[in-house]
Amino acid sequence: MRNDEAGTINRMTTGAELLARAGVPVVLAPMAGITNRAFRRLARESAASAMPGQTGGIYVTEMITSRALIERHPETLAMTAFDPDESPRSMQLYTTDPVTVAAAVRMIVDENRADHIDLNFGCPVPKVTKKGGGSALPWKRELFREIVTAAVKSADGRVPVTVKMRMGIDPEHLTYLDAGRAAAEAGAAWVTLHGRTAIQSYSGHADRSAIARLVEELAPYDVPVLGNGDVWTARDALSMVAETGCAGVVVGRGCLGRPWLFGQLAAGFLGAPIPREPDLRGVTATMRRHAELLEQVLGEGRGIRDFRKHVAWYLKGFVVGAPIRQQLGLVSSLGELDDLLSGLNLDQAYSAEAAELPRGRTSPQKRVALPDGWLETRDATGAIAEEEMAVSGG
Ligand SMILES: Cc1cc2nc3c(=O)[nH]c(=O)nc-3n(C[C@H](O)[C@H](O)[C@H](O)COP(=O)(O)O)c2cc1C
Repeated sequence: MRNDEAGTINRMTTGAELLARAGVPVVLAPMAGITNRAFRRLARESAASAMPGQTGGIYVTEMITSRALIERHPETLAMTAFDPDESPRSMQLYTTDPVTVAAAVRMIVDENRADHIDLNFGCPVPKVTKKGGGSALPWKRELFREIVTAAVKSADGRVPVTVKMRMGIDPEHLTYLDAGRAAAEAGAAWVTLHGRTAIQSYSGHADRSAIARLVEELAPYDVPVLGNGDVWTARDALSMVAETGCAGVVVGRGCLGRPWLFGQLAAGFLGAPIPREPDLRGVTATMRRHAELLEQVLGEGRGIRDFRKHVAWYLKGFVVGAPIRQQLGLVSSLGELDDLLSGLNLDQAYSAEAAELPRGRTSPQKRVALPDGWLETRDATGAIAEEEMAVSGG
C-alpha cells in the first residue's frame, strides 16, 4: 500500500478509501511516548491474529514536531522510522505555522517518509496551549485554515492529510464545527474528533453527540469523521459508530497495557467472535514481547527503561504484591523481567472491570493556559513559536 507501489495511495486516495484499505475502521491514536515502532508492531500483531493477512487498522506514530523534523534532529528522525511491513505509514505532525508544516510535509513526501499525515490540533497540555498550539489553535480560525491548506497543498495530492481535534477550548469556546468545515474545505481526507474540550483534559466522558453533530456537518463535503474518546472495548467502538454515524474509531488509552484490544476491535468490526481478555499468563507473554520490541527499537537499556511506564497498565486488576510491582517498575534488563514475571501467579483471569478502569490522566484542568488576550478575537493571527517539545501529548 506504499506510495512507491504504483496505483496505491496517491492523490486520489480519500479518507474513506484509506479506511477501507485498512480492512476495519480502526485507528491507533497517536500517543506521545507510547505509539513508537515497538508499540505499533505489538498492536498490529494483535490485529493480525484476528484477521490474518490484513492490516487490521491504521497505526499512527507519536506526534512529530514539524520544526524538529525539518531541522533533522536525530531523535526526531528516529521517531519517524517505520517497520518495513508497516502499511500505511501514518505519521502525525504537530505544528503552529503554515510555512513550517508545508516544509515538513514536502520533506515527507519528497523523501517518501510516510503514506499518510495527520495534523494534531488536540493537545491540551499547558506547555503547548499557552503558546497557542494544539487544542488552542483552532480558535484562530484563519491560522487553522492556513495551516491545513498549506499541509494539503504541500502534500500535492501524494499523501492524504487528516486532522485531529478536540471540541474546543471550553464549553463557551467551541471550535469543532468551524474547524471541521475549514478542514474539509482545505482538503483534509478525514477529521477525527475527540469529544472533549481542552479544559476537560481527560475528565468526564467523551461527548458522542458532538461527534454525531460533526458527522452531520461534514456530510455535504463527503469527508469522513472519526470518533475518538473512551473506546475501552470492542463494544464501545461498535456503539460509537452506531450512535454517531462516524466512519471509524480512534483508540488511545483503551489499549494502554492492552494491545490485544486491536484484535478484539478487528473481530468486532468483522462480526467475528471477540477474543477474550487474556489471563495473566497471556498478559505476561505480551509484556515480554513489548519489552523485547522496545529493546530492539530504542536500544538495549533504554528500551527496558521505557517499558517501565507500561507495567502498571498491564497489571491493572491482577493480584500482584506491591514489592514485585515496585521491582517491575524499576526493571533494567529482559533477564530481570523474565525472573520477576515467572514469580507471579499466572493462573489469574482478567477482571472484566479492569478493562474499563481509567488509564492515563483523568483530572480536568482549572483553566486552559493560553497566550494573553487569546480569546478576545478569533481572527488575529501572527506567528506562534513552535515549541520544541520533549514531552508532549494530546
Ligand atoms: C499518553 C498520551 C499521549 C498522547 N499523545 C498524543 C499525541 O501525540 N497526539 C495526539 O493527537 N493526541 C495525543 N493523545 C490523545 C489521544 O490521541 C486521544 O485523542 C485521547 O487519549 C482520547 O482518546 P482515548 O479516550 O481513546 O484515550 C495522547 C493521549 C495520551 C493518553
